[in-house]
Amino acid sequence: MNRVWESTNGTGTRERLWTRIVERTPTAVLAWTDLTLMNRELPAARSPRPVGLEEYAEWSQAIQDVHDELGRAIPKSRLQARLGHGMRFYVLRENGRAVCTAWLATGPERFIDEAAVGLTIPANGLWLRDIFVPPSERGRGRFQQLLDGALAFHPDATTLWSDVHVSNVASLRAHLRYGFRPVGAVRALHVGKRVLLRCAVDGAAPVRSIWAPGRWLMWTGDEFRNFVRERLA
Ligand SMILES: CC(C)(COP(=O)(O)OP(=O)(O)OC[C@H]1O[C@@H](n2cnc3c(N)ncnc32)[C@H](O)[C@@H]1OP(=O)(O)O)[C@@H](O)C(=O)NCCC(=O)NCCS
Repeated sequence: MNRVWESTNGTGTRERLWTRIVERTPTAVLAWTDLTLMNRELPAARSPRPVGLEEYAEWSQAIQDVHDELGRAIPKSRLQARLGHGMRFYVLRENGRAVCTAWLATGPERFIDEAAVGLTIPANGLWLRDIFVPPSERGRGRFQQLLDGALAFHPDATTLWSDVHVSNVASLRAHLRYGFRPVGAVRALHVGKRVLLRCAVDGAAPVRSIWAPGRWLMWTGDEFRNFVRERLA
């Protein structure tokens, strides 16, 4: 838990108080978010667009179908919201089967709903979201294969951003191998459905939208939920 408090910059009273509350709260009602922000400068030269990679900038039933094929129960409304927020969907197929999917956000922000924070996607930047390789295909470099291909659709992009939960070792390894470097962190803790402790928003991407700016402890009522719902992607 110490890691979560590392960058709160408080006097220590806040941390001690929260440590006490957390220790006395049943773990079932605690929901931690501990994300590492990463980015990678992109080379000017791109790989050619690979055969088998499809890009979707608008809604198509194929997007739903590929999620169903991969057993990923993401509601249609959420998939459509991603497109509505300017994200594009990519699917890499081999022999007709989906072997990797991902989303790229082109702006204006990557909204991290767990912390109610939207980070600015810099000009000529892209933000990777929800890359997924089915279990039987993992460890074969599909991550790199899809990204190399998807970047061919964005010849002017200069930086690729991403965020990875610190416990997701396979994803961190794939990101590091692809040349991403850690540049910051976002940490938050929800206690039940009513309280949010935002512990850290550090990093190179400036905050664009944030619930209750300047506050680290928040009640998460209806207004909060509306704020998140409008930005969720
Ligand atoms: C994270 C993920 C996209 C990586 O894709 P990938 O194509 O398997 O990536 P790579 O082939 O580059 O392998 C990355 C790491 O996965 C791990 N890995 C290797 N084989 C694996 C397997 N069979 N099962 C699980 N992980 C494996 C290894 O640690 C590997 O790193 P290493 O080669 O340096 O040891 C994939 O594991 C995945 O879809 N996971 C579930 C969804 C997810 O967590 N998405 C990321 C959200 S940020």
